[in-house]
Amino acid sequence: MPKASDIILKQAEQLRERINFHNRKYYVDDSPEISDAEFDKLFGQLLDLEEQYPELVSADSPSQRVGSKLSKKFENQPHRIPMLSLQKVTTAEEFAAFDKRVSEGLESDTAIEYFVEPKLDGLAVELIYRNGLFETGLTRGDGSTGENITPNLRTIKTIPLRLSDVCASKYPLLEVRGEVIMRKSDFLKLNETLRANNQTTLANSRNGAAGSLRQLDSKITASRPLLFYAYGISDKELKGIDSQRAAIDLLISEGFKINEQARSAVGKNKVEKTFEMLTKKRPTLNYEIDGMVIKVNNFEQQTILGQIARAPRWAVAWKFEAEQAETILMDVEFSVGRTGVVTPVAKLKPVQVSRVTVSSASLHNEDEIRALDIRIGDTVVIQRAGEVIPDVIEVLLEHRPKNSKPIIFPTKCPSCGKAIKRPKGEAAYRCQNFSCPAQVAGRLIYFASKAGVDIDGLGEKLAGQLCQKNLVNDPADIYFLKKDDLLPLDLMADKRAENLLAAIDKSRRAELPKIIAALGIIGVGETAAKILAAEFTDFDKLLNSKQARLETIAGIGPVIAENILAFFSNKSHRRLIDKLKKGGVKFLPYKLKSKAGKLLGKTFVITGTLSKPRPYFKKLIEDNGGKVTGSVSSSTNYLLCGSEPGSKEAKARKLGVEVIGEDRFKALLT
Ligand code: IVH
Repeated sequence: MPKASDIILKQAEQLRERINFHNRKYYVDDSPEISDAEFDKLFGQLLDLEEQYPELVSADSPSQRVGSKLSKKFENQPHRIPMLSLQKVTTAEEFAAFDKRVSEGLESDTAIEYFVEPKLDGLAVELIYRNGLFETGLTRGDGSTGENITPNLRTIKTIPLRLSDVCASKYPLLEVRGEVIMRKSDFLKLNETLRANNQTTLANSRNGAAGSLRQLDSKITASRPLLFYAYGISDKELKGIDSQRAAIDLLISEGFKINEQARSAVGKNKVEKTFEMLTKKRPTLNYEIDGMVIKVNNFEQQTILGQIARAPRWAVAWKFEAEQAETILMDVEFSVGRTGVVTPVAKLKPVQVSRVTVSSASLHNEDEIRALDIRIGDTVVIQRAGEVIPDVIEVLLEHRPKNSKPIIFPTKCPSCGKAIKRPKGEAAYRCQNFSCPAQVAGRLIYFASKAGVDIDGLGEKLAGQLCQKNLVNDPADIYFLKKDDLLPLDLMADKRAENLLAAIDKSRRAELPKIIAALGIIGVGETAAKILAAEFTDFDKLLNSKQARLETIAGIGPVIAENILAFFSNKSHRRLIDKLKKGGVKFLPYKLKSKAGKLLGKTFVITGTLSKPRPYFKKLIEDNGGKVTGSVSSSTNYLLCGSEPGSKEAKARKLGVEVIGEDRFKALLT
């Protein structure tokens, strides 16, 4: 084996730095600078080098994230400082009482400065960095002792394997705490894959995260899309870190991912407002949260307040209202969607779940019904996740009545009466009749929806009527509708008919991605449609594209490519497209718009302590067309500067870069 020269050593070190940098851009900042292919190339180069010179492989090399089998079970290890749990409140009154206790404990008559964060619903872990290197990772366990799951945590890309030299020398021992989570969308994808491979699916994304972390083969963990959000450090006595905000700033600058909703909130009212805001935001977030954690910001104040039993007096979890409820399954109906899939819908005895009355829930498919072992008459637990229709997550078998009835899956389409089939390898039964009224209505609703060409006023009810009255047999028919066709419909007055026709007319000039999405090709939603429109710009080119060409497009892949080809080679779909054209749909060529904004072309560097965490400002800058970089150079336009800015300010002034505070920054945006 040849020995690595200094040059090779340096080369490996540079490759690692570049890989770490791009990893951080991709996973922590969500703003990659290079393509996946370019990244893979860098990674390949490092693997080649390390294979040639095995002595180069260091524990902090990104190549060591891939995982391997563990020979024995996880070992227990005590936490140096216990990981506490949190007291809970559920109402504004209860929070006010907490705030009062804090004020009294601190003998303070001014508003308390809090730091608030979403309560992430995953698995709590502690990461121990010794001399800057990620050494050990523990689960929370019972708070005093956790399990050593280091090899598994190593595979998570948002966990830095090495901290900066400055940090390492200032804090030779740093214990970082946070939550490992799985995004909702990743969880759904994972379950699809598990189902396709006949493996047991997971109940929710929290189990997704926990189950993935407790694998004895960390290769499996490595294949799971996990994220680590840091929410604090264990030690309150580190030099220069005297508050939660300061700890978070340190963690941000060391490359940890911090939740973008984390922020300061001074006083009880501000906390309440933030809780209301977070409650509204919750359904739109791509990860599960079950409340908001409120921490007294100042560490000295935290120490004064101390703890009772296993929970600190300086923090509290304000939990959202329960989103689960028990009720009775009265019946099961079967509905047919636009692709012909027959979905069982649970009809429930109406019940309140987080202030909404729920009377139906999704049962997904036959396998799900079998897995739940559910019968009509059963008492079930349902769960709402945000706005979506609730799921039945559990059957309480102990309450099963004697006269419970099994659920019988139909053999004929409940809409058109034709035979239904369960294609091999699929979980769903499908109605095979393309002209089935339920499918026609489903396609029309989808075509006109916000994800499609967005026709205001054309919803479920109207689509149903149009199909029933045979005015519409496919989405293109709407472009031939006249006012006289519409007037006889229910609730259709003169004005409403005119508005609808105007909305239909507007959709003739819908942007190409919208039209592509509206077609309802399986697997081609808004994102894939945008990719296709940007790639082909001209619809007819997409129409006549070949599998090989489609497959090479990043974000499309062989399965979607096949769906696209199958869609366009189907004669009824070709006829639909011709009819859309005849009906006046323009299929305008697509032009990619450059991101406009007040800060277009401007480069920012952010430094010092600001009123909100840095990701907040970064997002604001990027949403307005600007860019954020890590270090000041002559091409920087502005240094956004908070308190205690450090060396960047001096450098900016030396280079003549404009140094601005938050007020001036806000002025730039207006
Ligand atoms: S701080 C004393 N911050 O909640 C401080 N915990 O009951 C205790 N959790 O299992 C932890 N998000 O995993 C804190 N932003 C956050 C959190 C959070 C979720 C979990 C944590 C633990 C439980 C504490």
